This record gives sequence, C-alpha cells and structure tokens, in this order.
Amino acid sequence: MSIEQPSGAVAIAAAVRLLEQGGLVAFPTETVYGLGADAENPAAVGQIYLVKGRPANHPLIVHLAPEADIDYWSDAVDESARRLMAAFWPGPLTLILSRASHIPDTVAGGQQSIGLRCPSHPVAQALLRDFKAGRGGIAAPSANRFGHVSPTLAQHVRDEFRDSPLLSCVLEGGQSAVGIESTILDLSRGTPVLLRPGHVDSLQIAEVLGVMPALPDAAAPRASGTLASHYAPRTPLVMVATDELAAILTNVQKAGRRVALMHHSGIENIGAGSDAVAGIARAVMPGEPVGYAHDLYAALRRLDQCGADLILVETPPDSAPWQAVGDRLKRAAHGSADVLARMLL
Ligand code: TXA
Ligand code: MG
Repeated sequence: MSIEQPSGAVAIAAAVRLLEQGGLVAFPTETVYGLGADAENPAAVGQIYLVKGRPANHPLIVHLAPEADIDYWSDAVDESARRLMAAFWPGPLTLILSRASHIPDTVAGGQQSIGLRCPSHPVAQALLRDFKAGRGGIAAPSANRFGHVSPTLAQHVRDEFRDSPLLSCVLEGGQSAVGIESTILDLSRGTPVLLRPGHVDSLQIAEVLGVMPALPDAAAPRASGTLASHYAPRTPLVMVATDELAAILTNVQKAGRRVALMHHSGIENIGAGSDAVAGIARAVMPGEPVGYAHDLYAALRRLDQCGADLILVETPPDSAPWQAVGDRLKRAAHGSADVLARMLL
C-alpha cells in the first residue's frame, strides 16, 4: 500500500503509534466514525471527554478486535452474551456487561459495567488488530461534539474538530455503511434491556435470546445517546405528518421563513405542488429504514448548513423496522416543539 492511500498500512501504523503514546485517533466504523483512545489509559480517555465536551460520567464503548479475549474485559460473560456475540459480532451491537475490576473506571464513566463492541469496518479491524497486538481496547464515542450529529464521513469529523489541536489523526474509511450508532443492549442487570435501538433490532435479538429485550426503566444506566436531546443539528428540526406537510411548508414560507425539507414520500404524495418546493433545500430520503438510516446524518448535516430557519421532516412510519430512525429523529427534534408555533404566529 502506498502512503497516498489515506488509511493504508502506513496510516494505520502511525495511528497505532499515536494510540500507544496516549493520543487520539478518529477512525471509521460501519455505524459512525469514532474518536478513539487507549481504553486502559485514563489520561488518554480523559482527552476524549475534553475534546468532545462530554460530561465525565457518561461511559464510553470499548472497541475490540474480533479475536479479543472478552473475559479480560468482563468478569461475567454469560451464555446470552456469548450467543449474541456469535450472532452479531463483528457488527453494530454493543453489549453492556459487568466490568472486570482491573479495567479503569474512567472509561466506564464510573459505572460498574463496560460497553463492548467489535466493529466490522475493515479499517477499524486493522487498527484494532495492530494496536497492542490485538489485545488492547479502543474507547470511542462517536466523533462529534457532545449532543451534535454523529459523523458518517471522515470529512464530517474534520469539520467537527477543525479547531482541536488534540485531534491530528483521522483515518479515512469512506461512508459508514449503517449510518446510525450501534444498538446497545444492557446484559449487566439480569433482564436484557435495550438502551439504544439500532440496526440490530429487538426482534433479531429476541430470536437469539428467546425473549424480547425490555425497554429502559428509571434504574437504567446513563447513556448520552438516550438523552432527550441528542444527535441534533443546530437548526431547529420539526417532524410533521405526511398529510400536513404541504400546508405547513406553505405557511412557514408565507411567514417569511426559510425552510429545509426532508421527506421520504414522493412530492406528489405529500401534496405539495412543485412550486412549493422550488428553490428550497431538500433531502429526498429512501422509503425504507436501512437506506434512510444510511443517509440520515449526512442529510441532516447538509440541511443544517444551508442557512434555513427550520428543518421540516416528514414523520417516518411507526413500525418496528423504523424504530432506530424514529428514535434519532425524535432526539434531534427535542426542544423545537414550539418553534413552529412561534414562526406561524
Ligand atoms: O456505533 C457506535 O456505538 C459508535 C461507534 C463509534 O462505535 N459509538 C457511539 O458512542 O455511538 P457514543 O459514546 O456516542 O455512544 C455510546 C453510548 C452512550 O450513550 C453511552 O452512555 C453508552 O453508549 N454506554 C457506554 N458504556 C455504557 C455502560 N457501561 N453502561 C451504559 N451505557 C453505556
Ligand atoms: Mg454519540
């Protein structure tokens, strides 16, 4: 491989050196790009929190190579965990397990548990296999500033951290195939609990475990991706039912506001005449959830940058396969509920 290939062997070797020296490396995964540091180096992990602007009590996911020794990281890997790993690793499923006592608690934000995931992206795997000869773990949240939209391209990461001298290494890996963050399943408290929906859905998990995962209750651990407001663009975002979209679009424009539109139904089905959408920034999304998730964050970033006062999103279907997309959009819309009413006053 030549040095021109951004994530060829040379770039991976440099990234490994940086990690082993306690530095930060952003790297691609199949879900979103991660902002990585040596999971067992508390000072390095501290830099992640600093650069991201993330509260220190929000735990990080530790990424492992496919050959990693899970029992090194958790002291209670039960049969359920092993079956799920066999079914979905490498891939977009994070398991929360009891943390082995020798793993520093900085990475777990002070929790007794640890989040573990084995990514399938070849660049992530190459990095993990070379880092500490495959025996290390790379702690990595999504490589965005706290609360903002997750990155699905290396360029998104560079855009997020342009002013951050602590992040000098961003490995290139193309567009993330899944496009939204991993499913998080908590196995540390007895009953399996789905903390964050993702590409691996509840039904697939139930097929392996024989029971449906429960929804989080008040005792569920902190997870920043489960905060009401998260994954949010800076422009207010409002979800609107398909049959109300055309009227609201017209009214907001009449009120002199600039609108951006994200829709998955054909314009003709929305009922908006072509003049209603002429000249406005639009993202036409796939009509099925896997493609929609893949395109979601890049579309949000693009619409966020077009100078609109408001992003209108056609509410996606409510069915199970749309759960993860609906979850991310709901959090992106949080806090914007009265924006539309104020604009239409
Ligand atoms: O797809 C992903 O999971 C991406 C890529 C980079 O792997 N990572 C990611 O990390 O989304 P982050 O930090 O943005 O979101 C991880 C979520 C957070 O909500 C965090 O609170 C939760 O996982 N989490 C991590 N460890 C946990 C633990 N021990 N207990 C409960 N929640 C945990
Ligand atoms: Mg995140």
